[in-house]
Amino acid sequence: CGIVGIVGRTPVAPLIVDALKRLEYRGYDSAGVATVENGQLDRRRAEGKLVNLEERLRSQPLGGFVGIGHTRWATHGVPNETNAHPHFSQDVAVVHNGIIENFAELREELSAEGFVFASQTDTEVVAHLVARELRRGLRPQDAAFAALRRLQGAFALAILFRGDEDLIIGARNGPPLAVGHGNGEMYLGSDAIALAPFTDSITYLDDGDWVAVRRSGVEIFDMEGRRVERQRQQSVGTSLLVDKGNHRHFMEKEIHEQPEVIAHTLAHYLDFASGGVKNFETPFDFAAIDRLAVSACGTAYLAGLIGKYWFERYARLPVDIDIASEFRYREMPLSQKSAALFVSQSGETADTLASLRYCRSAGIPIASIVNVRDSTMARESDGIFPTLAGPEIGVASTKAFTCQLSIFAALAVRAGLERGTLSREQAADFVRALSEAPRYAAQALKLEGRIEKVARALSQVRHVLYLGRDTSYPLALEGALKLKEISYIHAEGYAAGELKHGPIALIDEQMPVVVIAPQDRVFDKTVSNMQEVSARGGRIVLITDEEGAARASLDCFETIVMPKMPELLAPIVYALPVQMLAYHTAVVMGTDVDQPRNLAKSVTVE
Ligand code: G6P
Repeated sequence: CGIVGIVGRTPVAPLIVDALKRLEYRGYDSAGVATVENGQLDRRRAEGKLVNLEERLRSQPLGGFVGIGHTRWATHGVPNETNAHPHFSQDVAVVHNGIIENFAELREELSAEGFVFASQTDTEVVAHLVARELRRGLRPQDAAFAALRRLQGAFALAILFRGDEDLIIGARNGPPLAVGHGNGEMYLGSDAIALAPFTDSITYLDDGDWVAVRRSGVEIFDMEGRRVERQRQQSVGTSLLVDKGNHRHFMEKEIHEQPEVIAHTLAHYLDFASGGVKNFETPFDFAAIDRLAVSACGTAYLAGLIGKYWFERYARLPVDIDIASEFRYREMPLSQKSAALFVSQSGETADTLASLRYCRSAGIPIASIVNVRDSTMARESDGIFPTLAGPEIGVASTKAFTCQLSIFAALAVRAGLERGTLSREQAADFVRALSEAPRYAAQALKLEGRIEKVARALSQVRHVLYLGRDTSYPLALEGALKLKEISYIHAEGYAAGELKHGPIALIDEQMPVVVIAPQDRVFDKTVSNMQEVSARGGRIVLITDEEGAARASLDCFETIVMPKMPELLAPIVYALPVQMLAYHTAVVMGTDVDQPRNLAKSVTVE
């Protein structure tokens, strides 16, 4: 979910909606705005996307120079207008991101005292808690503090008060919240992108902080009520362009940006001129560790899975890779000779952040591959490896993924050198190979027409299977994930060799099987698995290179022929046809490609 608050000098509702647009990637089930005008609280809310809220505001405008807004990704209660934020108690309006874990108990307590609940949300308890403290005679700021102390769980909150046109209370415990400093105006927002139109002067709240935002300035406190100082920083958010250009969707634009952003990212870590790895800072010495624990969610997790193959193969460094929501509760023993690496586009994903904190408590060094450099994960890591992908707006990750892979490749080479498993010459060969990645990626984009044809066929089916071996196996998982995310067609990714242990039962004439198989060390093995599919009438879509296409000699429904490239590049470059296939299938199906149903780009709840 996304939060915005403004204590301004002009009517704030339109400004809040503008800022929410920049946060819509965080969720888009419903949205709302509340303001105080002439001492009175009022709100407009609407189910669905922000355009619906804009429409509502056009027919019923909302005045007021102070207000809060929200775009929601439902956790408690269906996404309808009643459950949309802001939630009201008599004198209080609240927007909230996260989960109040003790809400059932609080709700019972408040109901017993006569508070009436209008929604099914956990958020509404916060409004009533604050209202109760006001009734007991506390000033708004003190009432909010008293209420905050009762809350358990993960939350970012913004609170507005009837009768006070110069105050918003913000609080953070988990999901991010930032204060923006303006000139005679002050702001609250989930991230710097939301506040970019207003200011680039930002203070991030730490967990357990709460803040009183007034026109004249802000005061930040901890949960004991003590004043705390937090650094004000210049955000990089203002330079971020959020514009589709000539593309139909952000996802299409982001797929096409890949040759460029892969080049930027690789150039940050590798020295193409000398064929060496740059001497960038790392929070641990690869030669001094004997295990690396990698965890992440979604597409970032699949980048980590490919990274595991590379670290183990080229640097002989064992990698434990986990889905972050499992890792955080798995109680994995971590020796003092291990290090942790987290992967996240947003740097805010709750499960990945919790895993990071688990490793922090275990006392091992922590690095993160993040796209948002001032994110919570970036700030809590001992060192970061930034992806230089630029803002990624499409909910389904594309360019962040290939930039994450670019960093894994660079780190594996660096680790190989430090651990003595790669010679300078071998490393130079890898660096030279990686320098070609942007060129191959640009060539892959030219296959779009061919891929559209396959997409039209896929749009007719209910189920698709993706197969691959070695580093193409995680890519098969990614292909299936992308397709189901944005086209809503059921898809499964499998290790090609695992086909015979179950999924082969699904193969019939209706079942398309996308096989990702560059001509590499395991190609012939994958061809055997394709024979098994073919023998049962399955329709094969083969993504391979010229050599592979000649060698496979199989009757495929369609073969997408990539240029022949060094093995290390294949996962980075083959990601592009896989993404384009999902994209074009979704376009044919007519789904909401950039904001697929039920998903959110940044998932700051468990
Ligand atoms: C969401 C997005 C995915 C993304 C995942 C992890 O589920 O829809 O595209 O891979 O979160 O996000 P992160 O920001 O941690 O990379």
